[in-house]
Amino acid sequence: MRIDIITVLPQLLESPFSHSIMKRAQQKGLLEVYVHNLRDHTPYKQAQVDDYQFGGGAGMVMMPEPLAIAIETLQKDRSYDEIIYMTPDGSRFEQKTANRLSLKENLLIICGHYKGIDERIREHFVTMEISIGDYVLSGGELAAAIVVDAVGRLLPGVLNDETSALFDSFQDDLLAPPVYTRPADFRGWKVPEELLSGDPKIVDAWRHEQAMERTRLRRPDLLDE
Ligand code: 6GU
Repeated sequence: MRIDIITVLPQLLESPFSHSIMKRAQQKGLLEVYVHNLRDHTPYKQAQVDDYQFGGGAGMVMMPEPLAIAIETLQKDRSYDEIIYMTPDGSRFEQKTANRLSLKENLLIICGHYKGIDERIREHFVTMEISIGDYVLSGGELAAAIVVDAVGRLLPGVLNDETSALFDSFQDDLLAPPVYTRPADFRGWKVPEELLSGDPKIVDAWRHEQAMERTRLRRPDLLDE
């Protein structure tokens, strides 16, 4: 999978994909992430990319021309399965969204800033609008990093144990069960005996029961769905 990201703050996206699982995904050639500085595409003086909004009001709006040029420049080399605009008024990003996006070949992500981007770009280029939750961030970059991480780790071969993403919280609309590691007795706090039983049936049954219980207590809304 290839992901291109258009942003006015490319520095903000340098580190998130340079460590751990995202780093390995790229080293293995399973994921390519390219960050593009919108200011490299503006035809305006002094690398201007935003302007006052028509009708008045506080806050700048990202101009359509630099975004259109940036998008069309990238489209010359490949066609995108989705052109995603990161915005608090988009649809809520969920595990299902990540699953669906992980099946795509080429994604283009646009990070908004200020008051957002000119509506005409949303109408004529954007195919999908994503919010990561009901709160406002100062820009789309951190949200984009979250989407890339959630999608990237689902690509086949990225996780060491290929099956492990299947057991993530939310993958079956349940929260994950508790996990333990050595020692089996830490300060007298013991690991549940089912996990030490050595019997996969007992272990699976315990985990399922715990996942159900945890979901019922913490996220009953997931069980209603
Ligand atoms: Cl995608 N962008 C911004 N600026 N704020 C957000 C968001 C995105 N999702 C939730 N809040």
